[in-house]
Amino acid sequence: SVEARIRDLLAQLSIEEKIGQLQQVQGGGGQVSDDLAQAIRDGRVGSVINEVHVDTVNALQHIAVRESRHGIPLLIGRDVIHGFATVFPIPLGQASSWNPDAVERGARVAATEAAACGVNWTFAPMIDIGRDPRWGRVAEGFGEDPYLTGVLAAASVRGYQGADLTAPDAIAACAKHFVGYGASESGRDYNTTNIAPRELRDVHLPPFEAAVQAGVASIMTSFSDIDGIPASANGPLLTGILREQWGFDGLVVSDWDSIRQLAIHGLTADDRGSAQEAAIAGVDMEMASTTYADHLADLVRDGLVPVERLDAMVANVLRMKLRLGLFERAMTDPSTFPVAGNVEHLQAAREVAQESIVLLRNSMHDGEYLLPLAAGALTRLAVIGPLADDPYEQLGTWIFDGDAQHSRTVLGALREALPDSVQIEVAQGVPNTRSQDTSGFDDAVRAAANADVALLVLGEESILSGEAHCRADIALPGAQEALVEAIVATGTPVVLVVMAGRALALERVAHRVHALLYAWHPGSMGGAAIVDLLFGAASPSARLPVTLPRATGQIPIYYAHKNTGKPATPETVVSMHDIHPRAPQLSVGNTSFHLDVDPSPLYPFGFGLTYTYVEYEAPSLRLAEVSLDGTVEISATLTNRGARAADEVVQLYVRDLVGSATRPVKELKGFQRVHLAAGERRTVRFSLPVAQLAFHGCDLQRAVEPGRFHAWIAPNAGTTTSVEFSVRS
Ligand code: IFM
Repeated sequence: SVEARIRDLLAQLSIEEKIGQLQQVQGGGGQVSDDLAQAIRDGRVGSVINEVHVDTVNALQHIAVRESRHGIPLLIGRDVIHGFATVFPIPLGQASSWNPDAVERGARVAATEAAACGVNWTFAPMIDIGRDPRWGRVAEGFGEDPYLTGVLAAASVRGYQGADLTAPDAIAACAKHFVGYGASESGRDYNTTNIAPRELRDVHLPPFEAAVQAGVASIMTSFSDIDGIPASANGPLLTGILREQWGFDGLVVSDWDSIRQLAIHGLTADDRGSAQEAAIAGVDMEMASTTYADHLADLVRDGLVPVERLDAMVANVLRMKLRLGLFERAMTDPSTFPVAGNVEHLQAAREVAQESIVLLRNSMHDGEYLLPLAAGALTRLAVIGPLADDPYEQLGTWIFDGDAQHSRTVLGALREALPDSVQIEVAQGVPNTRSQDTSGFDDAVRAAANADVALLVLGEESILSGEAHCRADIALPGAQEALVEAIVATGTPVVLVVMAGRALALERVAHRVHALLYAWHPGSMGGAAIVDLLFGAASPSARLPVTLPRATGQIPIYYAHKNTGKPATPETVVSMHDIHPRAPQLSVGNTSFHLDVDPSPLYPFGFGLTYTYVEYEAPSLRLAEVSLDGTVEISATLTNRGARAADEVVQLYVRDLVGSATRPVKELKGFQRVHLAAGERRTVRFSLPVAQLAFHGCDLQRAVEPGRFHAWIAPNAGTTTSVEFSVRS
């Protein structure tokens, strides 16, 4: 058995060889350096990160398996975050599909392409809850909601790891960053977090528990400090919750250099102290820095790290190698894999992108909705903006292996899709998204003025999001708002496509354009997917996995907020426009709002339009009272009132009206994608186990508290028709 083989190996390894298994080192960019070869031969390396040349990987594995004393294969790690050569939409975009099958499919393709290069371990999914879009890493996660993130985390793990982790095209997943990284203060990367214990348990931990339940092979610690104990030295979390409470028996890896950084945080005096803290807390493998290699042997000899602890760390590394089947198959034969970026993979990327692009606005023009556009009715189309034809910028952050040669840009896809009768006029408008240079406006305005429709492709370049790429102001950067204004002033109907790595504050432009598609960074086939949606070859079905604020100053704004003692009311919004500047204290009954912005979001969580209108009847319950061990059976009838079919994302929200600790105004508890033919009427049913209403009450124990609840079956978090049920003790 795996455990017997681990015991056997542990009995043979010297203390130095054990510590060698705990070290991850940087690969050589296609070269096997003499130093690296010797280190592997000596048993001083457990894993190599960032080596993706298959011949080099095989050479490294050959040294490990054939030339080191115990023949232990290497873990080959790489950030395969949203694709490999074929790039899928950024994870935040994929989350907009609200479709676990789409997320699983993207991860499966990525795993296959990465495994062909010898990679056997990815550092994904990132499942940090992102409620602050200033933080650049929101791009890498699944949004603001713990339930949605948990469902998609499990799908992602299934996709990377496949049904059988020993299969040649399966790679180990790594849920990161444990835990709370998304709460970095002011959205500034690596910043301190302040997460109350209940919020930690109800919001930040559940996606990780879902990943563990889905069998994720590894977990990465966060760079961040959580209530004074940086995550890479946080024993209560790493050992108490992850191992003891959840029973995780996989591998815990530090983030890059994060063990050494414990001294920079001021938790330890030096590297030796950092190694001791991290090892005792529960970090098995050290990424990049070498505090374990330098100090762990002494710490064990001095009795500061028990040898049993060291053995447990090594066992976790060996267990992952055994689970991957590496002892039987360390080498990779690339000829047995499909070619990266092949037609099927690109088609998968196109379909996932179609499901990831959110239609936020579609207004009437000449008595009809502007979208979908009818190619036959167009003679001139203006295509404007720096992101309309950039094969690289549509790919998004973390695309080390992404091949921009596979990219279909919006302009490229339009040229392919439209008949020659449609004249396409192209203008940049601005040289790049950050530029204040308005010298290209005249050309853009001219193109728009002469066109039947102006298509603007604006937003953020890839480099504006991702690790250490945070923004203090999340409006459209540079002169883009002014560009929108200038194009709208031509009177030509305007379709705005936004590519971005985060939620942007679009209040000043959203309602001025006629149609708005939020494409995130849509990946290799993003342009083709956008064109499919614009011309109706595909129908929009995506929904926001985050709240879109009106203004940066509203952050954090998320749907599952607390009610407060003085919530803003509809009257707040009406009367805030009449506030006398000298007498704000006389205004609107002292409710919770900013004087200068409507307290509601620009678009609520879960929002997204289709090319039809689906009417929701009020939800109904099978029983209005259920027992603690019961199930809430709730349904609602939907009717597709339009002339087109649609995939509708039906969402179930619940509010616990009174708790021993205050509860959010709404929490997502379920969702279903339902295909509705034109005119179809269908009843959608949810069975919600009462156990899923549990939260951490005033004693910090997870339990359901009997009492009254409201439930909604709705197209987004912003709607209001609810039904009441109660849970009896
Ligand atoms: O996986 C990443 C992590 O998310 C951030 N620091 C570096 C790691 C490896 O590249």
